[in-house]
Amino acid sequence: MPGSIGILTAGGDSPGLNAAIRAIGKAAQRSHGMHVIGFRDGFRGLIQNRTVRLDSDTLSGILTKGGTILGTSRDKPHKMLLDGKIVDMTSACLETFAENQLDALVCLGGSGTAKNALRLKQRGMSILTLPKTIDNDVWGTDTTFGFDTALNIATEAIDRLHSTAHSHHRIVVVELMGHNAGWLALGAGIAGGADVILIPEIPYDVDRVAASILVRKAGGSSFSIVAVSEGAMSWEEAARLAKLEARQDSAKAGEREAAEADLAAFWADRKYATERLTQELEKRTGLEGRVTILGHVQRGGIPSPADRLLATRLGAACSEYIAAGTTGVMVAARGNGTEPVPLEDVAGKTKTVPVDDPLVGTARRLGISLGD
Ligand code: F6P
Repeated sequence: MPGSIGILTAGGDSPGLNAAIRAIGKAAQRSHGMHVIGFRDGFRGLIQNRTVRLDSDTLSGILTKGGTILGTSRDKPHKMLLDGKIVDMTSACLETFAENQLDALVCLGGSGTAKNALRLKQRGMSILTLPKTIDNDVWGTDTTFGFDTALNIATEAIDRLHSTAHSHHRIVVVELMGHNAGWLALGAGIAGGADVILIPEIPYDVDRVAASILVRKAGGSSFSIVAVSEGAMSWEEAARLAKLEARQDSAKAGEREAAEADLAAFWADRKYATERLTQELEKRTGLEGRVTILGHVQRGGIPSPADRLLATRLGAACSEYIAAGTTGVMVAARGNGTEPVPLEDVAGKTKTVPVDDPLVGTARRLGISLGD
């Protein structure tokens, strides 16, 4: 029996989103005669019932496009900012679902989206997610679409920084995205031949980083490339954060506001962490330093062929799961295929780099400093 499905994209945009939308839509229409609509701007569009028909015309020509044709937002249905107030709009999501006579809603997103989807599942919605993010930090899937494209961009950036660092005998510190996971910095750092790679999972000691640069200098290499993940912290910073978080957790009434303010100040100050690290390395090595913050360039532009393939594989499988009545799951990448993983197993977890990950071992065997 043909049914109707809705699609939305939530969280930060990621290369491959349009490829996934296209695959879900095409497979659902061609193989199952389903009617497909999209919601604009993530959960906000679902709440406001702002739809776009995803027919063959709309789905045509989007495979290679970056971003998302639907628009996205970081809104959470249970904590929506509306007219300056935080409101629980979960019921509005269920109303839109019913009004459009949907059989399933597919949310393309990362870990935060899985949490939001689980809440809607618990309220009775037939919902699925597809894992997208350049951070590759979604639990329960081999990988996420967007990661490969970002890895290519970050690696190319490191390649390009090599020649200028070498020519000027400088330390070039390149900050990469990844949130609290080091996959992107570790992958691009190794692929791009960085001399130092700093990731959130391994707190660093700035003296050790400087020492590794001095060893290179003594060996005749008067330049170094340091790939630093945006979430990487020194031992001191990591210890300070742990203390502030513990204080916030145990704060009694009356102390909570001050504890929250101190934690917020810590995060605000983190904006300058890479700049500060570079200055510390300059002081300790006597070499000149430069900072490159790659930022949103890592998320922009056309998806790599690997991301297009992954997004298409997951999207096409998703419509099969819906047709078979399998919902309440994330469509995970598993080997060359897919696997439906219950949202309960995914939500609230993050896949960070294990300190004994084979890639960490590879970096160490090559003499790359991880700062520890
Ligand atoms: O989750 C993807 C990501 O690009 C992270 O790597 C980064 O920390 C964050 O999003 C940036 O978010 P925004 O686009 O809201 O600045």
